[in-house]
Amino acid sequence: MVSTPSRITSPRGTDYLSSGADPVSDRSPNQQLLPLTAKVNSDDQLTIGGVAVSELVKIYGSPLYILDEESLRAACRQYREALKRYYPGEATVLYASKAWNCLAICAIAGSEGLGIDVASGGELYTALQAGVAADRIYFHGNNKSATELAEALEVGSHIVVDNWLELESLAQLSGAQGKTVPILIRITPGIECHTHEYIRTGHIDSKFGFDPNQIEAVLQEIAQQPSLDFQGFHAHIGSQIFELEPHKDLPGVMVQWFLKAREIGLSPSVLNVGGGLGIRYTEDDDPPSIDAWVKQVCTAMVAACKNAQITPPHLICEPGRSLVGSSCITAYTVGSRKAIPDMRTYIAVDGGMSDNARPITYQALYRPVAVDRMAQPCTETVTVAGKHCESGDILIQQAQLPPLQSGDILAILATGAYNYSMASNYNRVTRPAAVLVGEGQGQVIIERETYQDLVSCDRLPDRLKSIS
Ligand code: LLP
Repeated sequence: MVSTPSRITSPRGTDYLSSGADPVSDRSPNQQLLPLTAKVNSDDQLTIGGVAVSELVKIYGSPLYILDEESLRAACRQYREALKRYYPGEATVLYASKAWNCLAICAIAGSEGLGIDVASGGELYTALQAGVAADRIYFHGNNKSATELAEALEVGSHIVVDNWLELESLAQLSGAQGKTVPILIRITPGIECHTHEYIRTGHIDSKFGFDPNQIEAVLQEIAQQPSLDFQGFHAHIGSQIFELEPHKDLPGVMVQWFLKAREIGLSPSVLNVGGGLGIRYTEDDDPPSIDAWVKQVCTAMVAACKNAQITPPHLICEPGRSLVGSSCITAYTVGSRKAIPDMRTYIAVDGGMSDNARPITYQALYRPVAVDRMAQPCTETVTVAGKHCESGDILIQQAQLPPLQSGDILAILATGAYNYSMASNYNRVTRPAAVLVGEGQGQVIIERETYQDLVSCDRLPDRLKSIS
């Protein structure tokens, strides 16, 4: 039997749940397993934002996404402050809202002075509904529809142009409407990084962005189109990256594009280096801090500009995961248990691949905790299974936990990014609620779906109504 204490430690050995932890403001949220406000109360219960997780489950049910406002705001501030510290020119942080696009999160990011990166008409609509000004929104995507382009043009957001079809459609649409549209051009930078194959985007064989060999032709075309207000370039290398090296190389490549645009007679002013900083999902992960990542990007950008003898341009970065990922945990109620002698014990929870598709999609690893027995030794190794009709619906293959019974609450950590946003209704399971916690209170930011919601888009033709 394994006996691991269930205390959560940093890779450097600091016990962040003990009273001697570093001050909250010094910690980079993406390096923590737990949200910054996590504590263990005198009843050995995990609390986030001053509220016990199991109390929240009593009130709001499970599965439940619990989002710590302080962690999210701290991450936003750390990006902005680091840019101020290390970059001599104008700098903007965009929240890559594909990580989790909903009204409350867009509103929080907006209130912290961030712009928003959206990747569909639906994300654009949500950001606008949250009160974010259109000129602080950047619209991405490798196959934006004509309707989506028209919507972006109508409200006046920036568009990150990905390909020839889009460039032509946009020139036509904006020309016909007598409008100018602010654009960035996305180019594949040809920079490799170590992350899951599905979330790499910087390599040449990527579906995103223009091939760098075509840059001259693209810029020549833009120069012919007076309705396109060319502002600069965008590149994104990939996601969940722990190395700093790729972001050291990227500015040098992008500054060359910048020079090329000038040569052609255009006046670029923006370089957007994308997102990609990784977060800590388990004790084995050791990502750089937000500060270290920003420092690397800025230092490399300043050096590349100096080399090329240009003034540092308006620098944009667009993190998603490292802003919201570590701010959230998902609480589940344990249900059935199946022990197969000498093989494995499954404990099943009331959610699974419908609320967290990352394990089945990317073999992503997660850390669980027993929220009401935080100090109890982890004496069991179990497999945490979801409730879906799919053998691959396993949230954690080898989870070390205290012995758990039906009705106990288990939380999976660092579920803020690409969990709710990739959630589905597989097996017609309703999507969970999300609560925002802080200062001892929880507030629903996303209601739990109901069975009525599930059938709200279904239509039953009259001829099928009499089937009994
Ligand atoms: N900018 C662009 C153009 C992107 O495509 C992405 C992520 C980001 C910024 C934000 O990257 P981040 O800072 O979050 O790494 N579903 C996958 C991740 C897909 C990432 C898609 N693009 C996952 O769960 O790991």
